[in-house]
Amino acid sequence: MPVHCTWSPKIASLPLNRKLLGQRCDMLLHLLGLARAEVSVVFLDDAEMAAYNEKYRKQQGPTNVLSFPAVSHDDGFVVPENELGDVLISVDTARREAVGQNTSLHHRLTELIIHGMLHLAGYDHERSEAEAMRMWKEENLLLQKLQQPRSVAMPYLAINVDHVATIRQARGGSEPDPVLAASLCELAGADGIVVHLREDRRHIQDRDVLLLRQTVKTRLNLEMANVPEIVDIALEVMPDMITLVPEKRKELTTEGGLDVLANAKKVGKTIAKMRKAGIPVSLFIDPDAAQVQAALDVSATFVELHTGRYCEARTMEEQDREFRLIEQTAELAYESGLRVNAGHGLDYRNVHPIAALPFIEELSIGHAVISRAVLVGLENAVREMLAAVRTI
Ligand code: PXP
Repeated sequence: MPVHCTWSPKIASLPLNRKLLGQRCDMLLHLLGLARAEVSVVFLDDAEMAAYNEKYRKQQGPTNVLSFPAVSHDDGFVVPENELGDVLISVDTARREAVGQNTSLHHRLTELIIHGMLHLAGYDHERSEAEAMRMWKEENLLLQKLQQPRSVAMPYLAINVDHVATIRQARGGSEPDPVLAASLCELAGADGIVVHLREDRRHIQDRDVLLLRQTVKTRLNLEMANVPEIVDIALEVMPDMITLVPEKRKELTTEGGLDVLANAKKVGKTIAKMRKAGIPVSLFIDPDAAQVQAALDVSATFVELHTGRYCEARTMEEQDREFRLIEQTAELAYESGLRVNAGHGLDYRNVHPIAALPFIEELSIGHAVISRAVLVGLENAVREMLAAVRTI
């Protein structure tokens, strides 16, 4: 272990993704060409940091990061060659700074780890302006290299075939069949199939879900309300994952995200049942930090960020504001240990910036693709969406 991370008990209650931060420390040593070096990184609270600041720098109050390069002593103590030293980081201060900078806690902690380690590697911004510039450039470069979180270069594309069933239900017959449509989507390259089995069965029917379970070769994601009847069906059908959404009888489509905060107990119960059955649960939420925290608290595996407000924005400013919110929330959720999907309202024109966000693993798209399919055929429509998503 080249980097030894230590976590003060005082910060035990904070939702830190320790694995991710540990990986970033190790990766950083590699990037600095110091893979054989030994470094200790200690994450503390403000009071503990203030004590070190007072003791070693004679300064009052906490600071964000302190570096102590390992040095040999006059009394003959010789530091082993590979020992670089210690970095202390106050998570409390990092948290305040993250809020001030409108960024996530893990992003700020990563910046502080880089800063501290560069000091150990011999960089010093206080020596001269040129040196400060050199260090700043290196910090930015390392930050870019460290934050490449998605294991695939591009997001997966899951196609929602609900609206094939909507057309079928308009005449109450058997055509077009969403099960056949799902196969065509997969043939065209879709990475997954999504269906929403609504309580009122307005489009997808129980028969569709049962058949899809047998025919889908990629991944079947069952969207559903958190109600006993549908929970039982999910446990019987065993989709590859479920996505819990709020559901209102009168809405045309899912209107807002799930209020996980207000429904934590019920949602937590369903997640526990699904976990026993081995079904991962995604929660469809608005891009909101409090909902991310609630999703973490109930032990969800995924969140799906609602992109509706971004897609419906009427001005560039509004769209940009909504986009930034999705970007920050995706980063926050990912760095807190959640896997992140996104969807709702995405089409051929607005999908690209969302697809380019590195923290988003999968996009769930329905209406735009099924609408285009009427004109160009389903396989073409899926291929065109894949091209739009994958030209990053
Ligand atoms: N994700 C969720 C949770 C949804 O409810 C829907 C709509 O069914 C979608 C994604 C897909 O939205 P759209 O049909 O607008 O692409």
